[in-house]
Formats: sequence, C-alpha cells, structure tokens
Amino acid sequence: MTDIKPKHFTEEEIIELLTQVTDEELEKCHKHELVPSKDVILFQGTPGEATVQDSKGKMYIDFTSQAWSLGIGYIQQDVMFAAMEQMKHLSHVRNQYQTIPRIKLVNKLSEIAPGDLKNLVLNTQGGSVAVEVALKLAMVNRPMDQDIFITMWGGYHGNTLAMMAPTHYMPIVVRYRGFGREHFVKSPFPYCYRCPFGEKDISECGNLCLTMLQKTIDYGCQGLPLGVLMEPIQGPMGEVPAPPEFIKGAREICDKNNLLLLFDESQTAFGRIGTMFAAEYYKAVPDLMALTKALGGGFPMGATLASEKLGMFTPAEQHSTFSANPVCYAAAFINLELIQRLDLPKRAEEMGKYLMKRFLELQEKYPIMGDVRGIGLFQGVELVKDPKTKVPANTAAEEFVAEALKRGLILDLSQPVITIHGDFYRNTLTIKPPLVITREQIDQAMEIFEECLQTVTPLIKT
Ligand SMILES: Cc1ncc(COP(=O)(O)O)c(C=O)c1O
Repeated sequence: MTDIKPKHFTEEEIIELLTQVTDEELEKCHKHELVPSKDVILFQGTPGEATVQDSKGKMYIDFTSQAWSLGIGYIQQDVMFAAMEQMKHLSHVRNQYQTIPRIKLVNKLSEIAPGDLKNLVLNTQGGSVAVEVALKLAMVNRPMDQDIFITMWGGYHGNTLAMMAPTHYMPIVVRYRGFGREHFVKSPFPYCYRCPFGEKDISECGNLCLTMLQKTIDYGCQGLPLGVLMEPIQGPMGEVPAPPEFIKGAREICDKNNLLLLFDESQTAFGRIGTMFAAEYYKAVPDLMALTKALGGGFPMGATLASEKLGMFTPAEQHSTFSANPVCYAAAFINLELIQRLDLPKRAEEMGKYLMKRFLELQEKYPIMGDVRGIGLFQGVELVKDPKTKVPANTAAEEFVAEALKRGLILDLSQPVITIHGDFYRNTLTIKPPLVITREQIDQAMEIFEECLQTVTPLIKT
C-alpha cells in the first residue's frame, strides 16, 4: 500500500492553501459564481456529530444534514478512514472495471434491499441520475412504445433537464422547463393539510387521490402508461408523508393495471424515518427504487434498485465517466455497515418522537405553526398567517431561517410551490437533522426555534 505524501508541494503549503481564506477571496468568488450562495463559510464539522463550525469559529446545530445527506453526522470517523484508505489504492476507474469497494457495496445494498429489489446500478453522481436510471430500466423492460410515466403533484426528482419534467413545475423561479414533458402526466398527491379536493382528511375523502390515479391511467395519458413514479414522503415540496392507505392502494393499482411502481427514496432511505427504507415503513415494495443522499455518508452516491423480475441493461444503455468512484463506494459501504451497527433507524425513530413532541408543545403556544408533520427525523413545520385560513407565511418563513442561522441553527425551507397564476408557497421549514443528533442538541435547537417564533410572529400581517 502506498503512503501518500505531497510530491511537488510541502504538506504545510497544501494545508495553508486549503484552510486560509480572506474576505476579498470570498467577494471575488461570489462575483464569479453563477449560482448564488450564503456568506457563511462552513469550515469544520464535528466528527460523527450534528454540529459544524464556520470559518470564524461560530458553532451551528445542523437541522438539514446538508441536503439531508449526513445521516451519520459530519466527517464520521469510520467513513472518513475508509475513504482515506481507499485513496491510497485508486481514485478513479472506468465503470467497466470491478473494484473491491464496488463488490462490497453492491452486495451490501442487495442484502439490505427490501423485498425482491436485489439487483442494482450504482452511480457517483446522485439522485437525478438514479431516477433517470430507474426510468430507463423500466423502458428497456417494456415495449418501447410505452414511455409515459405518471408522477405526482408536488413531486421532486432532480434538477437535470430530464428530471425537471416529472418535477413540480416552478414558473418564475425556474426560467426554463424540463425536457420530455410529454412523457410525464401528473396526478394529485395526498397533501392532506391542503387537500387537493378540499376535504378534511383521508377518512372523509375515501382516498380520492387514489381514485384520481386510476382515472389518470384510464383517461389522462396518450397511450398506456408504463409506470408510476413517486416519493412516498414528499421532501422538497413540503415534507408531506403519504397516508399508508395511499401507498398501499398505489401498489394495488399498479399491479391491477400492469404498471411498474417506482419509488424515489432519495430522502427517505437509510434510517431517517425509523426504517431503512420507506418501502418497509409502508409495507409496499416498488419495482424500482432510486437512492442517493445519505447513502454516501457525505460522499456523492446514487443507486437504483430493481426487482429481480426485471432484465438488465446493455453496456451502451447505462454508463458514464464518473459513475464508479471507488473512494465514494468505500465510504458508502462502511456508511451502510455503520448505520446497521449503530441501529440508526431506531435512533431516528426515538429522536423523531422526542422532536415531534417538542414541536407539538410549541404549536400550542404559537399559532403560526399551522401544521407539524412527519415521520422519524423527517419533519416539516408549515408556517401560516392564521391557522384557520392557512394562508402561507412566506416572508416570515424566510426570516425564520435567517434568524435561526444568526443564532446558530441551520434550517432550510421547502422548494417554492407556485401555481400557474403565480400564487406562491414557500413556508415549510424542513427538519431533517443527522440521525446521530442528541437530545441535548435538540433541546438547544428548540430554544433557538422558540426565539425565532417570537421574532417572526409580530412580522405576520393577516
Ligand atoms: C426526492 C429527490 N429526488 C431526486 C433528487 C435529485 O438528487 P440530486 O440533486 O443528487 O440530483 C433530490 C434532491 O434533492 C430529491 O430530494
């Protein structure tokens, strides 16, 4: 094994280059980058914890797990060691070649996968690619004239041109449209707090979203659809768990109509909701499943699981230059071992219950918390101007996130939901801390949360 030392630089030189930055450099960087970013420079994660320090030494509790990815916390020691060890062997290989971490990871994922989802494709690019692979595999397993998928109102499947088509349309904030829109037909998702049919809850509506799913298959598509793609718990569009009846019914509808069911478990998988996968929580196994985020333990990873009933790709149908990075695979493999060893799904369930209890207590005192919902450590708090009218408190929500950051709590908002008439909702605080968060950190975060509620409540004008 090679012990790696710098060859053309000194160690000190590289360390200094990577740890020192001036305000002028930041300003210059902001000027040149085409995508806006925050001013905070995150610098030092706490190993295996839910906290991170910025370049000025200020500490934050992170309720976002950095795009819901750091389930095991920042720079978790076992995973970092795995990556550093692997770097001594290989950094990049073409995807036709096997490597030891690849073999280990494929076998591990196949072992923990629910039901018959035992076959898979790995990538080191992320969720959009994982979903696209699922759609492609569905297509190569059906006659090629079947290329229409039903997707959900409020769904999110990535930011590539192809994945913006099944994703909820966001006019104004996104000034282009997804390509291939004719391949996706949308059906209502059971966002019961704002029921698409104006009903109170699923017991009153008789599962109308499911009726609509069948009607969309019957009347909504130009040709027989091939599959139904959904997030069992919608993440980016507002942290909305589907009621179990809907998921169970969707599985039955797919079976009855000979359609494939595709779950995008980019956000739900690997313990966050108290089970390794949402398919286990809902007791409904899809035919294909897209995975990413917490899979990599902090490294870029994606995977697509497929039912053993489905046939495989030809080499020309699925490949890309950076889809087989052995460092990411090594990290992901040890990450999965660790999630099992620490039983993080159970921890997420316990901490999730505690967090929810704290939110419900606050909701009694602060009516702007219109809805508190979620499963395990996958939660959302929807801020409204008035709990009766449910008018979204968009400005207050934005202010809330900024206030929380000032006080040392990293939060984020759901993606904007915008109607074709320009009505705008962006009022759900997304609450998805690392699964290793402690009770004390939750208590500390709740103090900040309450301060923010006190600060933004007077800003609300009904
Ligand atoms: C549910 C869901 N699907 C797909 C994606 C796309 O993943 P990526 O950004 O890695 O392409 C995301 C990312 O946020 C997601 O939340």
